[in-house]
Amino acid sequence: MTSTIFTGIAELVTGDALLDGADHSEHLGRLSDAAVVVQNGLIAWVGPASQAPVADQCRDVGGRAVIPGFVDSHSHLVFAGDRSQEFVARMTGARYDGGGIATSVNATRAASDDELRALVARRVAEMRAQGTTTVEIKSGYGLSVHDEARSLRIAAEFSSETTFLGAHVVPLEFADSRSEYVDLITGEMLSACVPHARWIDVFCEPHSSHAFTEDEARVVLSAGRNAGLGLRVHGNQLGHGPGVRLAVELGAASVDHCTFLSAEDVEQLAAASETTVATLLPGVEFSTRSPYPNARRLLDAGVSIALASDCNPGTCYSSSIPFVLALAVREMSLTPAEALLAATYGSAKSLRRNDIGVIRAGNRADLTVLDAPSYLHLFYRAGVPIARALDPVGCHGH
Ligand code: NIG
Ligand code: FE
Repeated sequence: MTSTIFTGIAELVTGDALLDGADHSEHLGRLSDAAVVVQNGLIAWVGPASQAPVADQCRDVGGRAVIPGFVDSHSHLVFAGDRSQEFVARMTGARYDGGGIATSVNATRAASDDELRALVARRVAEMRAQGTTTVEIKSGYGLSVHDEARSLRIAAEFSSETTFLGAHVVPLEFADSRSEYVDLITGEMLSACVPHARWIDVFCEPHSSHAFTEDEARVVLSAGRNAGLGLRVHGNQLGHGPGVRLAVELGAASVDHCTFLSAEDVEQLAAASETTVATLLPGVEFSTRSPYPNARRLLDAGVSIALASDCNPGTCYSSSIPFVLALAVREMSLTPAEALLAATYGSAKSLRRNDIGVIRAGNRADLTVLDAPSYLHLFYRAGVPIARALDPVGCHGH
């Protein structure tokens, strides 16, 4: 099996706390003038270029920085249609309440499999071109047995991190019979979706009449768990509520948004920091003109955090993790190192993965290169497209 050595790495951020000889300030596990050997899609060796072993082929990245590929642990990529007018309305004061999801459901149901597949392919490619190497993809714009199952079947063509979100909103045809919809989700829809999903998620939000109550969410998540799925929760997005409490109670891997948290929520998340990650999605606050979550308070309390895009047609149609990182530093008082680790190590943890998010021998060779000498330029040069996922194949320039 051919091995490839990447050289010319001016700065390598590994995120590996145990790497010998690395600069471990801010937990970055940083090396300068580094090399990485990749074989069979995995990292075979990491260290100073001067100590690098021989490999079959060499690729010089030309004095650039290399970081772990971004792990985007929250996205809704399977949708058709356009809701840009909702964004415009919010910029002049309209409030988000989840009602617009019905527009995307209609467009998604009307799209063919091939149309949906092409839309997802384009979005995943857009993410890779901005440095994302793993993406979690949710269903949630089908909301029928057929359309949820095909959304997940298509998502699974692009990622093993697929999430059944039949409990996104109550579809209009069930508006007067919510409990029948919960029965459908936990019955026939779950059975049709389980073969294509790793996770189940629910939009648990008392501040949206379209979303699910604590009791409904508990029923949905428990059924998913019994069917073998891991748990994720959309919680505390539009106001204070039960999402975090429920996620911790059920041992969910992640509770996402966490925009409005009580002192008890923060305490519970800190106590559950090995189990439940708080995933922050500041692109949503940007695109809905909402206050940003208090990331500093979470880190200072000992909560495990992740950063992800939430790329979706309603609350944030941005696929850009560099944009999320810039917001986290500029608007949420994270240091650049904290933000980068949250979008790599932290988001991998929220997917219960330890083979990604850190550049370490044995892990997947998911590397992102920056057209810059240091990871700091991700923030310093906000808005400039300097990050891209590195294709490990081939022995030609960068
Ligand atoms: O994560 N909160 C619920 N779901 C998405 C938005 C979906 C939409 O508006 O289309 C979110 O923000
Ligand atoms: Fe979401």
